[in-house]
Amino acid sequence: MTNSIKQSSGIKNIYLETFGCQMNELDSELVQDQLSALGYAFEGDRASADVVLFNTCSVREQAENKVLSRIGELGIEKREGREVVIGMLGCLPEREGKKLLGTYPQLDFICGPSELDHLPTMLHNAVLGERLSASERSALQGNRSRRSTALSAADDNLELLDLARAFNPDHRRSSDKSAYVRITRGCNKFCTYCVVPNTRGAEVHRPPDAIIEECRQLVQTGAVEITLLGQTVNHYRYTHDIAVNDEGIEVPQIGPGLTAFSKPLDESQRITTFANLLKRIHDEVPGVQRLRFVTSYPKDFGNDILEVIRDCPRICNYLHVPAQSGSNRILKLMNRGYTVEEYLEFIERARTIIPDVEIAGDIIVGFPTETEEDYKATCDLIRKVRFKNNFVFHYSPRPGTVAIDRFEDNVPREDKRRWLNAILALGSEISGDVHKAYEGCKVGVFVERLSPKMTKNSGVELMWDSGKIQLSGRTQGDLICVFDVDSEEMANNLMGTIVDVVVTDSAPLLLQGNLVRDYVER
Ligand code: 5AD
Ligand code: SF4
Repeated sequence: MTNSIKQSSGIKNIYLETFGCQMNELDSELVQDQLSALGYAFEGDRASADVVLFNTCSVREQAENKVLSRIGELGIEKREGREVVIGMLGCLPEREGKKLLGTYPQLDFICGPSELDHLPTMLHNAVLGERLSASERSALQGNRSRRSTALSAADDNLELLDLARAFNPDHRRSSDKSAYVRITRGCNKFCTYCVVPNTRGAEVHRPPDAIIEECRQLVQTGAVEITLLGQTVNHYRYTHDIAVNDEGIEVPQIGPGLTAFSKPLDESQRITTFANLLKRIHDEVPGVQRLRFVTSYPKDFGNDILEVIRDCPRICNYLHVPAQSGSNRILKLMNRGYTVEEYLEFIERARTIIPDVEIAGDIIVGFPTETEEDYKATCDLIRKVRFKNNFVFHYSPRPGTVAIDRFEDNVPREDKRRWLNAILALGSEISGDVHKAYEGCKVGVFVERLSPKMTKNSGVELMWDSGKIQLSGRTQGDLICVFDVDSEEMANNLMGTIVDVVVTDSAPLLLQGNLVRDYVER
């Protein structure tokens, strides 16, 4: 079913809602840039928008249900006569496929995360009310081609989408002091519970020069902090194209039929590793005051990366490196590719090389066959690692994964709930100690916002209510830190800058401190 919105009514207002991970947040930003450049407007009101787009997540069932209930509500509105185009983007349509259009006839089109370059055409057709087949209203990678790892990201249309933002800074929201930059798309790991390798396809690494140029442009338009994104970000490895010149010497291939001068190749012209990339961004884009990256994969985390983090002051001493479980038996069933001992060896190495590194992770509880013993092993791991925090999830069986086919979701709901709560309580206790250790120390804080108690109707109560204006930001180890300022003007001036704060008090998820007046930027 298509929907006709009269062409004569001028600019179309789009409401875009994003679910899920940072990768989706970045995709939404790129979609917004791309569609704004084509003359669409974005507004915050779903009820009055001409076009509603959902950028969806499929990692857990709950995230999918949320979107599907929104689609249900819009279906009722549409049947009652509302003229609205509805598009679904992201991992849910990629996982579910074309049949979604049959199940939810109110949907005008669907577009997987690897096909976002087709979005403008699909949206245009929908806005014009074209009557098209389900295939013409679907842009999905499907089984057609798991993008081959051999495919260079430079040959990929999606590369243009990432780069468009860099070269079209007018369309970047200038207030964003913190920006995401993708370095790798997709994932090759196939953890048995995870849909991502199916929905985002095989790993494709972006060319380092494109990444660096993007960082440079983002800094020029105001970014202070850059977070590099990849599903297994530390696996970044770009193999440069090599050609053989007339004299039979290997030379860098810098474009179709173009080769560089025939000096012998050095290693950096053959391969850019993640450590090389971090170092290059740090050195070549000095305006990046904070450089972060998520999410790391615990296996194959070389010392070269850790040493670059240690040696480059503007690379944050922070690792998000999910363990998922502390039981070797469960890790094996998850196909995580490492043992608890290997994970701990990595953590020890990281702490030896970068003594003040903060480590965060993800844990899944209730994986099929998990027992009390496995859960206790996870608690042991959490105690040993002393994570600054863990995101803890109930196992959610996902269609298309190995786990759903191979294992029954047999852990009683009550056990899942009990373990999750206990892990959160343990995490909070440890996090309290991690935060307490900062009392009396001076930390650099990247100021992000007024602290929630200062924002109207937030309903969030922090532990301190000094009655003053309070700012909230993050340390380079990703701890939240709040501090008071004297006036609104001062608050505005400090927003988006890095200030020094002396920590005076702490709670499990929060530092509080006093602003150092003559602060020095880190
Ligand atoms: N069930 C529960 N949690 C999951 N995650 C990924 N897939 C699932 C699933 N099927 C979690 C993992 C991952 C994070 C992004 O989401 O912990 O690190
Ligand atoms: Fe999913 Fe595992 Fe890849 Fe992470 S590493 S995206 S959990 S398959």
